[in-house]
Amino acid sequence: RSLTIGLIPADGIGREVIPAARQVLEALPKDALPAKLDFLDLDAGFEYFQKNGVALPEETLAALKDKCDGALFGAVSSPSHKVAGYSSPIVGLRKKMDLYANVRPVISGAAATASGEKRAIDMLIIRENTECLYIKEEEQGSDAQGKFAVAKRRISEFASRRAGEMAFSMALQRDAMRQQLPLAERTWKSRPKVTIVHKSNVLSVTDGLWRETVRGVYNGNELYKNNVDVEEQLVDSMVYRMFREPEAFDVVVAPNMYGDIISDGAAALVGSLGLVPSANVGDSFVVGEPVHGSAPDIAGKNIANPIAAIRSAAMLLERTGYGSAALAIYRAVDKVLEAGQIKTPDLGGKSTTNEVTDTICKLL
Ligand code: NAI
Ligand code: MG
Repeated sequence: RSLTIGLIPADGIGREVIPAARQVLEALPKDALPAKLDFLDLDAGFEYFQKNGVALPEETLAALKDKCDGALFGAVSSPSHKVAGYSSPIVGLRKKMDLYANVRPVISGAAATASGEKRAIDMLIIRENTECLYIKEEEQGSDAQGKFAVAKRRISEFASRRAGEMAFSMALQRDAMRQQLPLAERTWKSRPKVTIVHKSNVLSVTDGLWRETVRGVYNGNELYKNNVDVEEQLVDSMVYRMFREPEAFDVVVAPNMYGDIISDGAAALVGSLGLVPSANVGDSFVVGEPVHGSAPDIAGKNIANPIAAIRSAAMLLERTGYGSAALAIYRAVDKVLEAGQIKTPDLGGKSTTNEVTDTICKLL
């Protein structure tokens, strides 16, 4: 068998952490990954846009579709002001490849939290990935009081249903995995639970449709109803509860923008954005992507934490059918975190990106 992975480092620390992830994939022993690995270097990003006038070239999309089984994306330095002709390549990629759910596991595991306190956090955030405010339909106007701007927010039954299905089916999958562990080792001991995040007390039309549709997925499926608990949480109190009692969450499903925000917040609970991976998942393709951005403040210094990208590579393997290879990577990463000797500055250490990567490779 062979596995061809497209590599899109894009900007900033993406260019440091994606090569690190590649190095780890290449270090996997043959018995863990029984496939021939091929990599394809692909272009995208803001810097690429500045040179070539396009942020997500057609050749990259074509290569992903025709030649790759999956891909890894680094991060893009999207400017905060409007740049004529530019639009975020990762947002475009998610849309064009129909990667409709962004799956973000947030696990405390061995890593001490920023405050030094240890809590058993094992959340899976499912972020709808194709619509909400990120359709970017914004316009400016003006009236007697001056300028104003309006953004459209799209919520559809179709996209909400797919995100809901992903959440409930992943809740069952996680439960099946947990059942294989002795009770003492399970971070989550009760029935699987899905928390539906919304703000339909205010946005009753858009978030109302989201809430009803995701609930409908649950109510329409006996398997879910019999095996999964469901609860709802308004997005503002979701943030509050998540910081107060993060151990109370199992699977969390949210519209695009709320999901974006709460997952960065959740990253703080487990120590660093540099630890949290994600996978952009569609029915036929997957793109692993660290949750963090291009971190211009630390780019080019060989101090970015590569673990988020390395775990994203493992998620890619998991979703392309190489679960035991993925597990080998998760274990090696956990070992390094548990030992606590080799860590990058975001975790309070002094190690470089390369040292962390090499240590993980040696363990493999
Ligand atoms: P950021 O995630 O790049 O950085 C936030 C903070 O976390 C910074 O202090 C950074 O140094 C730190 N950090 C992030 N990743 C780290 C890692 N692997 N190791 C150690 N420290 C890490 O978010 P920020 O600063 O808001 O955005 C910077 C740029 O990234 C912007 O242009 C933004 O548009 C872009 N961005 C891109 C994303 C993507 O490509 N999917 C996602 C989020 C932001
Ligand atoms: Mg984000």
